[in-house]
Amino acid sequence: MRRVLVLHGPNLNLLGTREPAVYGSVSLPEVDRALRQHGQRRGVVVDCRQSNLEGQLVTWLQGAEREGYGGVVFNPGAFTHYSIALRDAVAAIRVPVVEVHLSNIHGREEFRRHSVIAAVSRGQISGFGPESYVLGIDALLTMNDARQPPRRAGSPVPRPARGRQAPGRRGSRR
Ligand code: DQA
Repeated sequence: MRRVLVLHGPNLNLLGTREPAVYGSVSLPEVDRALRQHGQRRGVVVDCRQSNLEGQLVTWLQGAEREGYGGVVFNPGAFTHYSIALRDAVAAIRVPVVEVHLSNIHGREEFRRHSVIAAVSRGQISGFGPESYVLGIDALLTMNDARQPPRRAGSPVPRPARGRQAPGRRGSRR
């Protein structure tokens, strides 16, 4: 997997000032910067997008495979709890989607405890603040690794198919 798409739903543009006791005081640009840096360390490009509009999120999900993303980390915000359009978009695409939440939705108000997205996602990560997104990226990469056939003892370490690594960097990337 070379590219991961992070999608943030409605009101997540207000991170940092929005209910900081629940969502923390880190802004969305700061979260996105940390995710891109984490991607660099893990050898994948991480692109982050935010929209308050359901249809825009549907369009990005539908386009993820065509745009070359191997997985999506998705915080649908309040749409989590009622958007059948987003649920259907996640179910329709082949790219794996990991649902993430900053807060632990299962420990909050009754209406937040149900996700219509969870059943069609690859899995759900909830309650770790911005770290939920990092765990989401790592979950996609771990699943992706698990799909690679195991190497037989004594077989050479596979080289990247394209590109050259700088001297001294060999084997340091995933
Ligand atoms: C949220 C939880 C949702 O219930 C809420 O509507 C959000 C944020 C979270 O990340 O904890 O907007 O998805």
